[in-house]
Amino acid sequence: MHNDIEKILISEQEIKNKCKEIGAQLTAEYNGKFPLAIGVLKGAMPFMSDVLRYTETHLEMDFMDVSSYGGEMRSSGEVKIVKDLNTKVEGRDLLIIEDIIDSGLTLNYLVDLFKYRKANSIKIVTLLDKPEGRTVDIKADVVGFKVPNEFVVGYGLDYQEKYRNLPYVGVLKPKIYGGEE
Ligand code: XMP
Ligand code: MG
Repeated sequence: MHNDIEKILISEQEIKNKCKEIGAQLTAEYNGKFPLAIGVLKGAMPFMSDVLRYTETHLEMDFMDVSSYGGEMRSSGEVKIVKDLNTKVEGRDLLIIEDIIDSGLTLNYLVDLFKYRKANSIKIVTLLDKPEGRTVDIKADVVGFKVPNEFVVGYGLDYQEKYRNLPYVGVLKPKIYGGEE
């Protein structure tokens, strides 16, 4: 375990099993279709890679990078597009892949945007869900794991751009982000 991590919440093996399970579910749901999988950068990158490895339908991948103004530990709701899709979404079946839903503001913005762009269907797959953080009414169609209202890192999730490459999801020692030890 990395020295900055206080505890592991979700192990590498649990994540792998979950990716296989979700992949099988998506395989069944998109059978015969050609969905556009949209990864929300950067946090969704490891999860997208693993979950789509087990999704056995034809699919297209694209990426979107959005940032919210304000603090680094929470999103503010004002979302700015840093990198847009290269693909037209009109008429497409979209599979939005996220690392975590907290307030829900980021996804709420994306869903509205893709509806406006006339997507045929929109499904949200998130590795983690923090239901206690929700400020807007949005639900993922597929949730890997529910997590408590704690700041988590690893497997795509960062603190100041670090820890995304950890193979598990964990909680940082408080001293790392300036809290009490
Ligand atoms: P919202 O609030 O828009 O949040 O649903 C989505 C984005 O907020 C970030 N976020 C976190 N990042 N650990 C992180 O590393 C967390 O515990 C956490 N909670 C929210 C993340 O960027 C996510 O895409
Ligand atoms: Mg993020």
